[in-house]
Amino acid sequence: DSHCNIMPKDKEPIFKNFNFVCVMALIVGIKIQFSEESEFTVDRSKRGLTQVPKDLPPKTTVLDMSQNHISELQFSDINFLSGLEVLILSHNRIQQLNFSVFRFNQDLEYLDLSYNQLWTISCHPVVSLKHLDLSFNNFDTLPICKEFGNSIQLDFLGLSATKLQQLDLLPIAHLHLSYILLDLNGYAVKGNEIESLRILNTKKLHLVFHPNSLFSVQLNISVNKLECLELTNLKLNDENCEVLINVLSELTRGPSLLNFTLNHVETTWKCLVTIFQFLWPKPVEYLNIYNLTIIENIRKEYFTYSKTALKSLKIEHITNRVFLFSQNVLYTVFSEMNILMLTISDTPFIHMLCPQKPSTFKFLNFTHNVFTDSIFENCSTLDRLETLILQKNGLKDLFKVGLMTKDMPSLEILDVSWNSLEFNRREENCTWVESIVVLNLSSNILSDSVFRCVPPRVTVLDLHNNRIKNIPKQITKLEALKELNIAFNYLTDLPGCGTFTSLSALIIDHNSISRELREFIKNIGQISSEVVEDWPGSYKCAYPESYKGTQLQNFHMSQLSCNTTLLVVTIGVTMLVLVVTVTFLCMYMDLPWYLRMVCQWTQTQHRARNTPLEELQRNLQFHAFISYSEHDSAWVKNELVPCLEKEDIRICLHERNFVPGKSIIENIINCIEKSYKSIFVLSPNFVQSEWCHYELYFAHHKLFHEGSDNLILILLEPISQNSIPSKYHKLKALMAKRTYLEWPTEKSKRGLFWANIRAAFNIKLALVTENNDVNT
Ligand SMILES: *[C@@H]1O[C@H](CO)[C@@H](O)[C@H](O)[C@H]1NC(C)=O
Repeated sequence: DSHCNIMPKDKEPIFKNFNFVCVMALIVGIKIQFSEESEFTVDRSKRGLTQVPKDLPPKTTVLDMSQNHISELQFSDINFLSGLEVLILSHNRIQQLNFSVFRFNQDLEYLDLSYNQLWTISCHPVVSLKHLDLSFNNFDTLPICKEFGNSIQLDFLGLSATKLQQLDLLPIAHLHLSYILLDLNGYAVKGNEIESLRILNTKKLHLVFHPNSLFSVQLNISVNKLECLELTNLKLNDENCEVLINVLSELTRGPSLLNFTLNHVETTWKCLVTIFQFLWPKPVEYLNIYNLTIIENIRKEYFTYSKTALKSLKIEHITNRVFLFSQNVLYTVFSEMNILMLTISDTPFIHMLCPQKPSTFKFLNFTHNVFTDSIFENCSTLDRLETLILQKNGLKDLFKVGLMTKDMPSLEILDVSWNSLEFNRREENCTWVESIVVLNLSSNILSDSVFRCVPPRVTVLDLHNNRIKNIPKQITKLEALKELNIAFNYLTDLPGCGTFTSLSALIIDHNSISRELREFIKNIGQISSEVVEDWPGSYKCAYPESYKGTQLQNFHMSQLSCNTTLLVVTIGVTMLVLVVTVTFLCMYMDLPWYLRMVCQWTQTQHRARNTPLEELQRNLQFHAFISYSEHDSAWVKNELVPCLEKEDIRICLHERNFVPGKSIIENIINCIEKSYKSIFVLSPNFVQSEWCHYELYFAHHKLFHEGSDNLILILLEPISQNSIPSKYHKLKALMAKRTYLEWPTEKSKRGLFWANIRAAFNIKLALVTENNDVNT
């Protein structure tokens, strides 16, 4: 029974020390245990049976027929089951039983008849019985046959009764039982009469009372050599508290009673403290209370912490029905206890006080409460504390947790798993007591920064189920670290071993590591199988689904998908080739020039298509007016004009189409106005000598705005921005925008140049002749 074997948890071996460095328990190995199938189990529970089925296999050794409606057990039902060892008939409707039905079941060891309606039994020896449960039935007096005295192997006996007599258990007094369960659910109180019962020789006695009645049992039970006492269903208030204390006085008399357990206790705070105070001088070493409800009110109760044998108090699951009270009153009783171990878990407690004087606590377990970061702040009285468990609370700041341990010089094990811990402080260094050996930080929301806040001498560090992406390279070396659990994080790479020189176990399953996994599979062949336990059989993939169950050694990943270096090199080489190609094209093939030309060509085509024809046909006589410097006239006459006229493009040249009598500028403007487009042949000469003619016109008419469709700029020779006089800001702007066509020096490129020019006139335009005839 678990309650009777309570050992301090902190003495368990904490980790297994494997003799190798940096070995990864990557995939959970599944070990199949082959249990020897010597039993033949038949399960007929919960079938709605009203009688024992007739078709039971004769070789049945274990028969479960619990939770049915069976009302009778007859000889013929089970006499052929000669190998039957275990018979479970609990939760049925059997009222009477003759033990002679078992006379052919010579091996029957375990008989469970609890929760039936038995009120009478007929006796017959069943010598082989070790476990007999007759509890939770309707017996009036204890169902004890003198034949039970023959079952010398009997270990467990479950009974129920509504009245007791001192010598009821005499027939079995000589047996050495381990466990007597006595159900006093229907126990009737008879006035002020005190009944007594002598129970000789059992290690454990478990009494179960009525769950909903106030405790009123006036009993005088005496047991020899009792080691373990358990009471279930106690409903106590300030008045009947004494009744329980009276019952306990007799029961706790023996010097061997070390374990005392209370289940389902509803009590006032005053009565609870009274029980503690009563037990304090007793020999009880382990006191457990499960499912405690505190009612009425919580007032200050005086408690004398006399010398005590009590080592451990454990309270699990407290419901507090008192809402207005001083928290300190409640917590002080616990915090000042002069015991070694205190567990208070699954309660609505929001705090625990720092003991007022140097405390005896070595082990404190406050799992699943609502403690906050202020717990044991500046507390220097817990100087003997070795284990502190604050699992499942409301802790938030790892820095404060570190600070809390500052004055706990004996602290070795700290469990703060399942909180909401983070470490966000950039500047500050964490203060940890150096004695910490095992630190459990699992199931928090810690990120990479946690490695800046770890006790320096830690040996076992559990960081599983956090948000760690990377183990930073520059963390202080954790030289003592032997076991690191970093499973269920966001790691993409294995940590380097340099930082953890003593590491012998690294648990990293459920991360996103793939490259190292490949390396691992590759290298493992070379390491002896003594180092990597159970390779390859136990290393199976668990994720992704499609690979589930595949042995790791048969799992192959593509070189590229997991090798970052290779991936980087591949990308790098591709980029390099691209850059070289582009550079080559730019330098030797003049790629930008081509791109610019093609771009302009496309734009022109687009514009030509979208401009309404009517808008163009004003009074146009020419397709184009060409303006150029005298120095460039050779090019214009030999190259440009012949080329354009070849395409039937009518051109206005100022020396050819000049109207005599008008000034040069008037002629130019006249020419511009009669032309669909104006071509300017730009060169350093042109800019210096001619541009000014047009500046004036542009200024007055604003006919051409920047990038206007009607303007074609040909750059015959490169003009540097500096050489353009600053007053010509329009030209500067146009040049800066590169809205010009460059005349290429290489012959090969000229085709595209001409195509671009032609594209500008790629339109069917009705021109008027000077006589106003329509010429198409
Ligand atoms: C840390 O705590 C978790 C539960 O909160 C537990 O499963 C785990 O085993 C603990 N780790 C260590 C090293 O004790």
